[in-house]
Amino acid sequence: MRPRRSDRRTEPRPVGPPGFAARRAAAELVEGVLRRNRRLSEQAGEDGPLARLGPADRARAQALAATTLRHLPAIDRVLDAFLRRRPAGRALTALRLAAAEMLVDGVAPHAAADAAVTLTRGHPKTRHLAPLVNAVSRRLATEGPARWAEIPPRRLPPWLEAPVIAAWGEAAADTIAQVQGGRPPLDITPKNPEAAEILAERLGGDLLPTGSLRLPGRVQVSALPGYDEGEWWVQDAAAALPARMLGIRPGEPVLDLCAAPGGKTLQLAAAGGLVTALDISAPRLERLRENLARTGLDAEIVVADALAWTPEQPWGAILIDAPCSATGTIRRHPDLPHLRNAGDIEPLVALQARLLDRAWEWLRPGGRLVYAVCSLIPAEGEEQVAAFLRRTPGAQRLRPDIALPEGWLDSEGALRTRPDFWAETGGVDGFHAALIGKA
Ligand SMILES: C[S@@+](CC[C@H](N)C(=O)[O-])C[C@H]1O[C@@H](n2cnc3c(N)ncnc32)[C@H](O)[C@@H]1O
Repeated sequence: MRPRRSDRRTEPRPVGPPGFAARRAAAELVEGVLRRNRRLSEQAGEDGPLARLGPADRARAQALAATTLRHLPAIDRVLDAFLRRRPAGRALTALRLAAAEMLVDGVAPHAAADAAVTLTRGHPKTRHLAPLVNAVSRRLATEGPARWAEIPPRRLPPWLEAPVIAAWGEAAADTIAQVQGGRPPLDITPKNPEAAEILAERLGGDLLPTGSLRLPGRVQVSALPGYDEGEWWVQDAAAALPARMLGIRPGEPVLDLCAAPGGKTLQLAAAGGLVTALDISAPRLERLRENLARTGLDAEIVVADALAWTPEQPWGAILIDAPCSATGTIRRHPDLPHLRNAGDIEPLVALQARLLDRAWEWLRPGGRLVYAVCSLIPAEGEEQVAAFLRRTPGAQRLRPDIALPEGWLDSEGALRTRPDFWAETGGVDGFHAALIGKA
């Protein structure tokens, strides 16, 4: 099955090249990731680099920071050819942004070069490096494209490549790496699935076989029709599947464990579920609250550590969207490869097992649970579920009752998506989700 293109299209407003304020914010975002180990999403708040920007400039700054981080190894390779040694601080960031703009985004070289010089001059510690940045930017403009064309195909970070090749082979790993190099499309979940076709026409998007809508990635989300009215929310097409696997009926109570920022909470509530949404992070739950307010949906919100919290009654339906390596979402979160390493996986696998065991105690006999992770690493997904089933009497796999593209359910009846699925139209996030019933 392939995405369907709607006939009447009203193209969404594209996000153009950034102005100076957006470029400076992009520089600060990139430095926040590379120097202070801060996720891009953590820097989006009121105290972050985006705080004083309007929605269009925020989108421009985020897009430029993401492009720069996505292509950083290749960008540095090109820059190194023009430098005896890398300059300090803001000067290096300015050159990296200029390279991303010239070589990836196709921005006019003089505009990207001028911006790099202005950024360097505007920072007290790098003012003296402006002539160097100017000279390197000019070489980037003239010689950069040829050097860029010679860069070998991108690969996954070594700590991720090994488990991906072991699970799905080299060809899949290569395609995943290529897909992660592109700007991802914007996927949208309609609040009312019945209205998906009409919404696709209004937004000028494609209605995907799984019910999500897909638009080109470089748009300002908050300017799209229906955003203010809460008719839809942003959610990767694969991320929209685990909540649907639970098959919530109107009026049915459901526990959404690890819920923030709430894409799946919104789905469960839109299906008519009486949702209790629990998460350990108060700031992330604030975003969930905003999402509920915008969409006019309802859920009870609990700020708590799931390993310490105890519910008042057993549940018939639980969704655990467990904390994980998020390696399935790198195309949407290009900061991740710069922040994660192999050592992160083992503690996450242990935490996931504890969350699963604990939630299982809260499930009543006859109840069902979906365990989901946005990970490409089987230890967090396939192997985690297999180990749980081995140690848990009365736990059995159930087959989800939803229509899926061929091959998206594995031989055990669990969902497995990878970024190389639908690669030609931008891929999907890598998810593993299993539906488990209690006898
Ligand atoms: C994959 S994200 C959830 C995404 C969310 N379900 C959605 O669809 O938007 C995992 C979440 O687990 C939360 N988390 C991590 N450890 C937790 C714990 N011990 N108890 C509750 N939540 C936890 C994190 O704060 C994070 O929001």
